[in-house]
Amino acid sequence: MALPDVTELTLEEKASLTSGASFWKTKPIERAGVPAIMVTDGPHGLRKQREGGDHLGLGDSVPATCFPPAVGLGSAWDADLVHRVGEALGTEASLENVAVLLGPGINIKRSPLCGRNFEYFSEDPIVSGVLGAAMVRGIQSKGVGASLKHFAANNQEHDRMRASSDVDPRPLREIYLRGFQRVVEAAQPWTVMCSYNRINGVYASEDPWLLTHVLRDEWGFEGLVVSDWGAVNDRVAGLRAGMDLEMPSSGGVTDAQIVAAVHDGSLDEQVVDAAAGRALDLVRKATAGAGAVAGPLDVDAHHALAREAAGRSIVLLKNDAPEHAAALRTGDARGALLPLAHDAKLAVIGDFAAQPRYQGAGSSLIRPTRLDTALDEIRALAAGDVAYARGFSNALEVSADETAALRDEAVAAASVADVAVVFLGLPARLESEGYDRDDIDLPAEQLALLDAVVAANPSTVVVLSNGGVVALPFADRVPAILEAWLLGQAGGGAIADVLFGEVNPSAKLTETIPLRLEDTPAYLDFPGEFSHVRYGEGLFVGYRWYDARRIEVAFPFGHGLSYTSFAYGDASAAVNADGDVEVTVAVTNTGDRAGREVVQVYTSLPGGEVHRPVRELKAFASVALQPGETRDVALTVRRKDLAYWDTRVDRWLVEGGSYVVDVAASSRDIRSSVRVDVDGDEFTLPLSRNSSIAEVMAHPVVGDMVQAAIAEMMGGMDGVTSILPEGVEVTKMLESFPIGRAAMFAGPDSGGAIDPAMIDGLIALGNAGGAPQE
Ligand code: BGC
Repeated sequence: MALPDVTELTLEEKASLTSGASFWKTKPIERAGVPAIMVTDGPHGLRKQREGGDHLGLGDSVPATCFPPAVGLGSAWDADLVHRVGEALGTEASLENVAVLLGPGINIKRSPLCGRNFEYFSEDPIVSGVLGAAMVRGIQSKGVGASLKHFAANNQEHDRMRASSDVDPRPLREIYLRGFQRVVEAAQPWTVMCSYNRINGVYASEDPWLLTHVLRDEWGFEGLVVSDWGAVNDRVAGLRAGMDLEMPSSGGVTDAQIVAAVHDGSLDEQVVDAAAGRALDLVRKATAGAGAVAGPLDVDAHHALAREAAGRSIVLLKNDAPEHAAALRTGDARGALLPLAHDAKLAVIGDFAAQPRYQGAGSSLIRPTRLDTALDEIRALAAGDVAYARGFSNALEVSADETAALRDEAVAAASVADVAVVFLGLPARLESEGYDRDDIDLPAEQLALLDAVVAANPSTVVVLSNGGVVALPFADRVPAILEAWLLGQAGGGAIADVLFGEVNPSAKLTETIPLRLEDTPAYLDFPGEFSHVRYGEGLFVGYRWYDARRIEVAFPFGHGLSYTSFAYGDASAAVNADGDVEVTVAVTNTGDRAGREVVQVYTSLPGGEVHRPVRELKAFASVALQPGETRDVALTVRRKDLAYWDTRVDRWLVEGGSYVVDVAASSRDIRSSVRVDVDGDEFTLPLSRNSSIAEVMAHPVVGDMVQAAIAEMMGGMDGVTSILPEGVEVTKMLESFPIGRAAMFAGPDSGGAIDPAMIDGLIALGNAGGAPQE
């Protein structure tokens, strides 16, 4: 049965479509044949609660494949892989009759302390935007909608339902909104979820600038805006701002407010029509998409995909030979500790090896279809002895005796092994939606355990399980470190694959690992106080900060090693007919095993007019290469990604000039640099009495005239300039002087050289764009 047009519904029916019936369902209108649809979390698996689930929405859910959370998956830097995971998520949602999956989350990792960083991709908007778009496309290819969240500037959990993210326009546009813009423009998610927080004082859920002006009018969003669960503050204001669907249910209270507001004339009924119309569109899409996938769910195939994705998520941070090479038994001729020889005698140490941490707590918690442990999977691949020692306990209360006994047992196992593989990480309680971390440290007993193990056996590999970055004070003391993040249900197998070299690691960091919390960009402004958090670091988020301040880091953004090595040729770059910059570089696998390299392109504009980071990521691609193979890797830097947000005119502008294009293996490992000339956008700053003299002098129409006038004036000022210290530049002193004020200093007493009417004439002439009159 065809769905009705919005005009066929009563006001009450239309209002009823703008809030949920329950935690996960929209309201049906039986009279008009409008069915309810179901939405569920997200983002790295399906969390469909069983019927009659609890009211917090956190209880038991049907089993679903738990793919690597974004912190892991993002580290693959691979849109195709993310797309495939998205397809699998869409398939599982479709088979469970779920119309919209509540993800992906693409918020920027502003501080490593954010409790929810495990759900987000990166500290960089290009990474977040490209991967977010791939996931949306993948999910939606199965007739299921995605919900791009949390829109916007929701970069902490502390006080998230009240705090105002106070962000200046440039970082807001260039860092925090840029990824959202990309996903909306490239993938048209069926829904966008507005966040809990306020932005510059206004709730995201009732911000017409955000939800209508930017999202719809500028970016062309065609879908529905849904509130985060409980994000509505003032329902009528929200509706007016463009917030279409309130979730979960308000028990009809806010529907009645909407009806009353129309009756008393404070709300235009067309606003209700627009929101109800979008709700109907969503139901229409969901109805058309339903049944696109034939069951049953292939649990094994999705588990295999989860393992592949997890293998691609593990970052090899470091891989040296241990100090005492005699202790080493590896299959690698270069003498690096990894990969392990299959017949090496291993001591596997650490609670996480047997009790994996594979996802974070909160609304994204999946009940997996199965769960691999690293210990079992290592044993399955190993040909030698594998001893296991728990090493430490993650329990809240552990006695000193128990800690010492666990440590001694681990040291004993390590001392007789060829290699110790030590699993360290963050206990689950330290990372969750709803609150942030206080520090970036691993628990002290884990660090002490590691020291004791390394003292007993220097051939030690550390495998980390954590959703947010941790400080690695031992990085210089252990030869090999795998950052295994949270990897989903097949992470255990993936870790074994990488340890033994069945999978050659290729992931890279999408966030910087700092040396100390005090070095991090938001350190002095996180999480704010009195419900305001000032984004004082501005544009300088993540590597942009460390590079600008030349701060040493533990491992830089974009870093990740392989069991093979790659050589880069000389890059070339040219502007194509669309104005985009095409970059090409030849990459060769110079090692002896097949591998994949993530190639990164950063740009900068030395001597540019606007304040910019030292370099910014603009494009990336990955290439799989056999030993000895060379391939050309082509990357496109979109012209629009070169643009900065100009706050004087509220628009994107590309500054012209000779850009440096750095082709790199990480943000601090530039392999080839090339220059490319980019034409700037045609743009003339409108003049006003507030324009500075420098701005007027640079103006294409009136600039010459003003320059000549100033030169003439300076000529008559010898008496003044002669008493100034040598070298003081009077013209420079004048540059920041607003032209409108010049008249004040040139009134009748001082000779009356500048007439205010003349200045207004000059401004009008400049703004009219006409030719200067003689
Ligand atoms: C979270 C969202 C989630 C929603 C529904 C909220 O608390 O912020 O990410 O989709 O709950 O569970």
